[in-house]
Amino acid sequence: MKKVIFSAIILVLTITATVSMQSCKKSDSPDVTQKTLYDTLGGTMMVNDPTHAGMQIEAGRLAIRSVVDSAIFVIAADANINVYFKVLLAEVTNGNTSGFMALSKNLTDFFCVATGAKNFTYGGKNMRDAHNPATNSRMNGKAANDDFDSFIADVVAAAKKNKVPDAIIAKLGAIINTLRSAVVQA
Ligand code: HEM
Repeated sequence: MKKVIFSAIILVLTITATVSMQSCKKSDSPDVTQKTLYDTLGGTMMVNDPTHAGMQIEAGRLAIRSVVDSAIFVIAADANINVYFKVLLAEVTNGNTSGFMALSKNLTDFFCVATGAKNFTYGGKNMRDAHNPATNSRMNGKAANDDFDSFIADVVAAAKKNKVPDAIIAKLGAIINTLRSAVVQA
């Protein structure tokens, strides 16, 4: 009888040790399968930059920059919100693309960082200051909630144009939505 009880205790101890070792493994070791949205968009893999001959660019950044540049064009043609971009549009109409290039870079950096890129930093204004005409003279008025909805619709259209899969667009939309209260100030 003593032998049976002893064996049972050993069995329970063995199972407990195995289970706790497994749970320890799960939480202590890095999950190599966990991808950021940036990784899903191509991540740090270097590819040829189609708009800069002889240069390479991270695939994730290229995907984001392509969507950003398309989105700027979609927004420029969107009568619901293009009035906010009056300064930029006037510059471009006059053949001055410096503001467009600066916006493209800052938006690309912003979304690279927001999706989990490690090799870029965002150096522009914070979202509240960038969208307040008092702190950004390039913002022609304060945006309202429906302007924000139009902005998201335009980014989604640009992402579809660039063949970004719907599941990724949904995640991008969710990130953008977290910034609504900072951007909407009307
Ligand atoms: C979450 C959504 C948005 C994000 C992440 C975003 C991001 C940015 C960034 C990074 C800049 C550049 C700031 C700088 O250079 O310091 C910018 C500028 C600007 N944004 Fe937004 N924005 C958003 C929504 C909107 C909306 C809804 C509007 C208007 C309807 C808007 C209008 C503008 C304008 C007019 C500028 C200045 C453009 C220029 O340089 O001429 N943004 N935004």
